[in-house]
Amino acid sequence: MSLTKDAGHLFRFAFLFVVAFVVFLLVRHFVVPKSFGEYGHYRGAAIGEIAARPLHYAGHETCETCHADIAEAKKAGKHENVSCEACHGPLAKHANDPSIQPVKINTTVLCIRCHAESAAKPGGFPQIDPVQHSGGVPCETCHQPHNGL
Ligand code: HEC
Ligand code: HEC
Ligand code: HEC
Ligand code: HEC
Repeated sequence: MSLTKDAGHLFRFAFLFVVAFVVFLLVRHFVVPKSFGEYGHYRGAAIGEIAARPLHYAGHETCETCHADIAEAKKAGKHENVSCEACHGPLAKHANDPSIQPVKINTTVLCIRCHAESAAKPGGFPQIDPVQHSGGVPCETCHQPHNGL
């Protein structure tokens, strides 16, 4: 007798549990994006969305197809391994349509970004104190950015 009476509590509890689970499934159905899990633990459609974003960098191989002279000059100097767009900034638009001219580089800002003296840099890396070294005279007065240095 008393067993079935007590079992009523258990059935009510089990019923609430089932209701909570159904609510969870419903919420999950609406909240989890459709393509989630298609390839792994992420939204499958994200791949297409990222691939569709516009390119900003063209890559140095692309620059070199039109500016072979500069690529050639650069090979002879210390900046051999510095990519075009590391200095010129992202130029995919210019590479697709050369009539879009790149902005002129301000060397007093650009060069010290890499060459300003800092104890955090490897000792062998060429670094200067810009005030002592050139005192505001633009770097390209004495250095050629592409090769001469
Ligand atoms: C399809 C050919 C083409 C590609 C690719 C290309 N350029 Fe150019 N670029 C030109 C032409 C044409 C000019 C304008 C003529 C000139 O001054 O040589 C120019 C001009 C420039 C200038 C300005 C020259 C000046 O007189 O001020 C820079 C800087 C430059 N390009 C850098 C780049 C970089 C960096 C890349 C790679 C991201 C690149 N270009 C890719 C054709 C190209
Ligand atoms: C270390 C930095 C640096 C790198 C790397 C670099 N440039 Fe330049 N480039 C400059 C500076 C500085 C100027 C002169 C200012 C300006 O024109 O904006 C310049 C000028 C130019 C010009 C104008 C015309 C000329 O002959 O001066 C072109 C075109 C050019 N760069 C293309 C390239 C290409 C293509 C590459 C890669 C093969 C490249 N640059 C790599 C810094 C750099
Ligand atoms: C993106 C970083 C970067 C920028 C920007 C940059 N450089 Fe460099 N520079 C380098 C690297 C890397 C080397 C090679 C270091 C080595 O040989 O270990 C170098 C080497 C040099 C050297 C040769 C030093 C020596 O060993 O005698 C000079 C001079 C120099 N750069 C001047 C400049 C000037 C001037 C500018 C601005 C037009 C400039 N750099 C912009 C990275 C940069
Ligand atoms: C008045 C001419 C002049 C100007 C302007 C100038 N330099 Fe130099 N730079 C030199 C000479 C000459 C050397 C080689 C002798 C030396 O190592 O001091 C040199 C060497 C360097 C080196 C190599 C240092 C090393 O330890 O090997 C770097 C890096 C450098 N310059 C960067 C720059 C930068 C960046 C600018 C612009 C802020 C600049 N220079 C402006 C004349 C100049």
